[in-house]
Amino acid sequence: VLHSPSKGTVETEPDDLVLVGKEDDIKKSQRITAKVNGREVVVFYHEGRFYALDSRCYHEGGPLRLGEIEDIDGQACIICPWHKYTITLETGEGLYQGINPLEPSPTPRWQSKGVKQRIHKVTVKNKNVYVSPPDMSVSFDSDYFAEKYKNGGDLAM
Ligand code: FES
Repeated sequence: VLHSPSKGTVETEPDDLVLVGKEDDIKKSQRITAKVNGREVVVFYHEGRFYALDSRCYHEGGPLRLGEIEDIDGQACIICPWHKYTITLETGEGLYQGINPLEPSPTPRWQSKGVKQRIHKVTVKNKNVYVSPPDMSVSFDSDYFAEKYKNGGDLAM
């Protein structure tokens, strides 16, 4: 069943939402990790917005909670501390710098590899921050590491 935010369709029941922390606390700390249905999720507060992603990088499972956030082409991205992969916070897309050899003087440009990191819906209600459980009918590269670290290796490097 596809959950669409448009009117007239069923949205995730509020009861399904997983409380991950207080709005004020996360605004202060700017990032936290939480368990959502057993998987490690990192929640960022960046420039007035909340974002949630699988906390283990889709490449080799690096801890994104320890990464730096950078603005790349107008998109807030987390840079994985292990091998510097760049992932957009909003969509979970992996970005890379590619060149078009057909250009007269090829210059590297940021391009998307598609959505690699699973992102999670964040809801703020009554000063609390909630994350929606993942829709497992679609899969992403980061699922492999989310599974691997599930219910174990809690916050291990
Ligand atoms: Fe994240 Fe390699 S594990 S870039």
